[in-house]
Amino acid sequence: MLHKTIAKTLLGVCILGSSLLASGEVNVYSHRHYDTDKQLFKMFEEKTGIKVNVVKAKASALIKRMISEGKNSPADVLITVDAGRLFQAKTSGILQSVSSDVLAANIPANLRDKDNQWFGLTKRARVALLSFDEAKKSDIKTYEDLADPKNKGKVVIRSSSNIYNQSLMAAMIEHHGEAYALTWAKGVVANMARTPKGNDRAQVVAVANGIGSAAIANTYYIGKMVHNKKESQREAIKKVKVFFPVFENGGTHVNVSGAGVAKYAPNKSNAVKFIEFLSSADAQKLFAEGNYEYPVLTGIAPSPLVTSWGSFNADSISMNALGLNNKAAIKIFDKAGWK
Ligand SMILES: [Fe+2]
Repeated sequence: MLHKTIAKTLLGVCILGSSLLASGEVNVYSHRHYDTDKQLFKMFEEKTGIKVNVVKAKASALIKRMISEGKNSPADVLITVDAGRLFQAKTSGILQSVSSDVLAANIPANLRDKDNQWFGLTKRARVALLSFDEAKKSDIKTYEDLADPKNKGKVVIRSSSNIYNQSLMAAMIEHHGEAYALTWAKGVVANMARTPKGNDRAQVVAVANGIGSAAIANTYYIGKMVHNKKESQREAIKKVKVFFPVFENGGTHVNVSGAGVAKYAPNKSNAVKFIEFLSSADAQKLFAEGNYEYPVLTGIAPSPLVTSWGSFNADSISMNALGLNNKAAIKIFDKAGWK
């Protein structure tokens, strides 16, 4: 009898043990460093019992690390920003294709890798922050206008070494071809108010201080400036108007942050569950509200602050093009003398 009880207990422990084992963990290598992400990971843990272990570093360092770790890499998921970087991760051979009905349903085809090696999870638009005087003139309606000689001395934009600009250029190539893109780049360089320096927010501060009248920046930085600890950032953003330029033959340039399953993921099914969760309504709401990004899931609204900047028609080119045209974009920047 006693033996039977012990056997039963042991069996119970084993079942409990195996169910814990089934929950297991997921190892996430992430370039994103937002508080929202911490909340999301906690939500996932509570919902599934799967523990989320996070390694944070810059995308280039994470990609390098995954390459050198090879088959021994503990990484299950890579999260990073910009389709250009996600493409780079794919071509480095560190991701694998995933077949998921949930991801196929939640994420529009133009916002994920054509081989389903990475998936866009949030959108950001690359917009113009205009001085109020500039906004009245309406000289800048399109990205092409940034190169128009009538806009000499107005443009403030960061260096070409930055992936956001490389992806904007990749989109320009996709719309008009490399020859036009080079002419455009030369025109923008000629219109710059200063040699490129600083991050996206520094461009907005420059315009607020009267250096140029059109800063180019990603939308979530507007939210970060509005709610910044530093008064100087909050004051700077009050002195500009958000404007959504379009391509002459398209919409407003959009990019994604996203995730892919690591090629040698030891916990592949957990990795897929994790990315599926990030594309779910609950997670998309948090992405939208916490980090001023645009959700990829249809039916989820951006935050009221983001909505207050106005609506726009997103360019419909595939995110794949941003990666495919990246090398050509870098060459064009060099030829045009865009620092
Ligand atoms: Fe950023």
